[in-house]
This record gives sequence, C-alpha cells and structure tokens, in this order.
Amino acid sequence: MQTPHEPGETAAKERTLTSVGDYLEAAWERMPAAYFGNMFGVEGDGISRTDESNRAAFNAIGLHPRVLVDVSEVALATTVLGEPIELPVLLAPIGDMTRIHPDGELGAVRAAGEAGTVMVLSLAASLSAEEVIAAAKRPLWFQLYVLRDRGATRQLVEYAEEIGCRAIVVTVDNPGIIQRDVRPGHREAWGTIGRLGLGGRLQGSGLVLESVDPALTWKDIDWLRSATSLPLVIKGIQTGEDAALCAAHGASGLVLSNHGGQALPDTVGTVTRLAEIVEASAGVEVYLDGGIRQGGDILKALALGARAVLIGRAQLWGLAAGGQAGVTGVLEVLADELRAAMKFCGLADVALAGPALVEATR
Ligand SMILES: Cc1cc2nc3c(=O)[nH]c(=O)nc-3n(C[C@H](O)[C@H](O)[C@H](O)COP(=O)(O)O)c2cc1C
Repeated sequence: MQTPHEPGETAAKERTLTSVGDYLEAAWERMPAAYFGNMFGVEGDGISRTDESNRAAFNAIGLHPRVLVDVSEVALATTVLGEPIELPVLLAPIGDMTRIHPDGELGAVRAAGEAGTVMVLSLAASLSAEEVIAAAKRPLWFQLYVLRDRGATRQLVEYAEEIGCRAIVVTVDNPGIIQRDVRPGHREAWGTIGRLGLGGRLQGSGLVLESVDPALTWKDIDWLRSATSLPLVIKGIQTGEDAALCAAHGASGLVLSNHGGQALPDTVGTVTRLAEIVEASAGVEVYLDGGIRQGGDILKALALGARAVLIGRAQLWGLAAGGQAGVTGVLEVLADELRAAMKFCGLADVALAGPALVEATR
C-alpha cells in the first residue's frame, strides 16, 4: 500500500478541517482506490444502503432547542463501565484498516488518550494489544471474535486480562458473512489475526477467517462469561429481544450496531431501535455505533438512552487524513459540535440528556 504522507505532515492543514465531512474529503484525496469500499461504504452492493439508513435514521430525528438556560459551561464527561471519560465517544474497532496511515493504532490510541476516551482494539488489529497498550494513556477494551477453538479463545481472554484491558467486547454479528471474504483484501487481512491480535501467542496456528465460530449461541456467551472476570460488552445487537438476552446472560454492556452497514443490508438505522433496546436492556449499558458524523448525532443518541457512541469510519477518515493529529481533530470537531448542540438545547450536562430533547420528524 502507498504511504500517502508522513505522520505530522498535515498538522497545519488539520486546523482548516472543521467537520467530519472535511476529514472524509481529505481522506478521499489520499486514499488508494482499493480502500474506498470499506472506508466510505460505496461499493454499491448493499453496503452503502445500510450505511445510508444509519444516516437517514439520524436525519429523521429533530432536536428541541431551548432558550434562556445558563449554558456558559457544558459538561461532556461521563463514565463507561465505571471508567470516567471526558467525551461520550469511543473509538470503534476497525480491524487493520488503521494501516491506512503509518501512525496506525498507535496514533489512534494516543488521540484517544488526549481526548480522554477509550479505544476498543480490534482482534484483527495490525499491532498486538501489548504494543498498543504501551502507547495508551487510558485502559483499552479488547474486541474479541469467539473462535471455533475455545482453547485459543480462552488464551485471548487471558491475554487481554494479563495486559490490563478493562473489558471484552465480543462481536456477534457473524463475521463469516459480513466480511464477505470474496472481496479482495479481506482474506489477507483476516489471515493476520493469529500473528497480530494474539500478541504472537498463537503464532503459526493458522488463524484465518474460518477460525471464527459461525455457530455461536447464547450458551457460548455463558461460557465466555465464566471464562473471564472482565466485564463483557456484546457488540452487534439490533433488537430489543436480543438486548434483553444480553442482560439475562450477564453482559455489562451492549453495542447497538449493524457493523457500520456491513451486516444485513436491509436493517433500519441503528438509532431507530435505540429507545426499544435501552428499555429492554435492564440496566446493561447501551452504546451505539453506525453513522455518527456530527455532534448532533451524539446528542440524539444520548437523549434516547445511549451511554456513549463509537466511531468507526469517522476515526478512519481522521487517521487517513492526518494520522494521530487527524483522529484528534475528528474527536475535537465532534466535541465542539456536541457542546454547541447542547447549548442550543439548553443542556448543561450530558447526564441530563433525555427523550424530551428529540422528536421524530418523519
Ligand atoms: C474498515 C472497518 C473495519 C472494521 N473492523 C471491525 C473489527 O475488526 N471488529 C469489529 O467488531 N467491528 C469492526 N468494524 C465495525 C466498527 O467497529 C463499527 O461497528 C462501525 O464502523 C460503526 O459505523 P461507522 O463506520 O458508521 O461509524 C469495522 C468497520 C470498518 C468500517
């Protein structure tokens, strides 16, 4: 892959990028064409449809402006699984697409540290979790796929515990289907799991896409629950029924996610289901991802009961546009826009966000 630019080169330019859309444009200019599909969701095979439905769902919600409230100071800080964060935006796991810039995961995790938030490191990352954690100011959450080989899966979980990860984020929206390994590049990316995600431990064990267990059930979640003392977050929940099962099976958190539009193409946008899922989740913390592009989206998600949101593509666009500085830039833009949206809505603290802030517009 070409290296579009050196780390730090775009630091000056970053200040001229004032929206996530600006980062998308800057990323677009620098990206090798082969990466466009995953980065932008423009392959025309259904991926874009669901990504659009995430956006359409946000666009179908209006915010309620309120006036004459003292919003000279607004507080964005909250907690996720008891961990204080300064901004309710986490970095989503994005595989090894981080290699789009030489800063990679190290740039992303440093940007998360600067912003005071948590990074969820992908099992398919391009560096081991140990290497990433060495650069991290904040605890990492470890994203896991349950492998057919439960011994190897257990080793992964023990590895995450040993190096100090604070949660296991188990992705359950079947990767065997969503990643559609017929696409050029995917099989190669998945071939790296054994070498990289496992910190070298299972080297040579030939872990590839097929290693991920397509036959996973809630019984396996029970097994995972018993295999670790770390909190479990289940990623890829899209219905109230499954949210209730997350609670029944001992999860501490769930991510309402359609894998950024890479799962079933004909689902509704994630935010459409948020209130129902929060209602069913019986106290399990609910996070949302899919289509977060501006501060108002975050406020809508918080109003409907999300504890925080995660960013996948917006993070990638920042990384592609300017490495660590680019991810910092994206997080700053989102924080500024969230603050502004809160001020217009007369909301001084994210903890006060509630359903009265939003209404369906169509
Ligand atoms: C390039 C790319 C790679 C991804 N890799 C992973 C992964 O390794 N593990 C995972 O659980 N989700 C993965 N996801 C899904 C994201 O974690 C997240 O659910 C999604 O990107 C959120 O939607 P957004 O891109 O609109 O923010 C990936 C998404 C993208 C775009």
